Amino acid sequence: MGKTLSEVMTEASQILGEAGIENPRRDARILIGQVFDGDQDIVIRDPDKQLTASERDTFMALLDRRRRREPVSHILGRREFWSRDFIVTSDVLDPRPDSETLIEAVLKKTEDRQRNYRLLDLGTGSGCLLLTLLSELPCSTGLGVDFSDAALDIANKNTSALDLQARADFLKSDWFSEVEGVFDIILSNPPYIETEVTRTLEPEVTQYEPITALDGGEDGLDCYRHLISRLPTYLKEDGLVIFEVGMGQAETVANYLSDMNFIQVEIHNDLASIGRCVSGRLKK
Ligand SMILES: C[S@@+](CC[C@H](N)C(=O)[O-])C[C@H]1O[C@@H](n2cnc3c(N)ncnc32)[C@H](O)[C@@H]1O
Repeated sequence: MGKTLSEVMTEASQILGEAGIENPRRDARILIGQVFDGDQDIVIRDPDKQLTASERDTFMALLDRRRRREPVSHILGRREFWSRDFIVTSDVLDPRPDSETLIEAVLKKTEDRQRNYRLLDLGTGSGCLLLTLLSELPCSTGLGVDFSDAALDIANKNTSALDLQARADFLKSDWFSEVEGVFDIILSNPPYIETEVTRTLEPEVTQYEPITALDGGEDGLDCYRHLISRLPTYLKEDGLVIFEVGMGQAETVANYLSDMNFIQVEIHNDLASIGRCVSGRLKK
């Protein structure tokens, strides 16, 4: 006789727990949901259901990928960010809930959502930041740049999935190198992890996310120094810049902006009260 859902879930949680996964039961439940068209509640509704051989094989294949520490988002092929699904693969940074702090801060500073803002997203990856903002600012347009062709391919796919082709463009560029024009809002979540620390991260990150999305140089701040020095060329007078920063970097990045004569320099905390974003306005 086949095993019941309840038995399979117990076994799966144990396998994932032994692989060092932090919340094994939650992940097992998400993966079983994949077998049943996204229906995770089947575990509670019908714990005595016997799995067919095919359902069990499908589940065991998903479980094996997770046991080898592949992120759940890669197994599902998508990650929810600001209530929308984004395609993700190992070519892009997995959108993090912390980055929603940047979205919240920009929306707070764009009171007139019907205005036509021109946005630039530096290091766009999956495009999650730019595409979320364009979805929330329906009259705005934006450019996302990245030096990774593979990342730009994912960003373009996400643009089509969200039907934003008319307002979002993507360009291969080493930061500002190929960018033309001036912008009302420049945003960036650049690589900001100290090189030494990148080697100590969880396998989900070191094995499945591009190192070029993570490594911010010896002190983690290389990209901020590079980008901030060039901002005045690309930002309109009174334009807004906003960066996501790593834990403990907010004060330093705020000082870099002040040193470049930015005004209204502000730190925005995430839900854990950690300084997660720094914004400022350009006074020319
Ligand atoms: C931390 S990820 C952020 C991705 C996405 N914006 C997000 O918040 O999920 C940083 C991104 O910057 C890109 N990047 C790194 N160095 C770059 C460079 N010199 N020029 C352009 N993009 C770069 C990486 O390819 C990666 O997609």
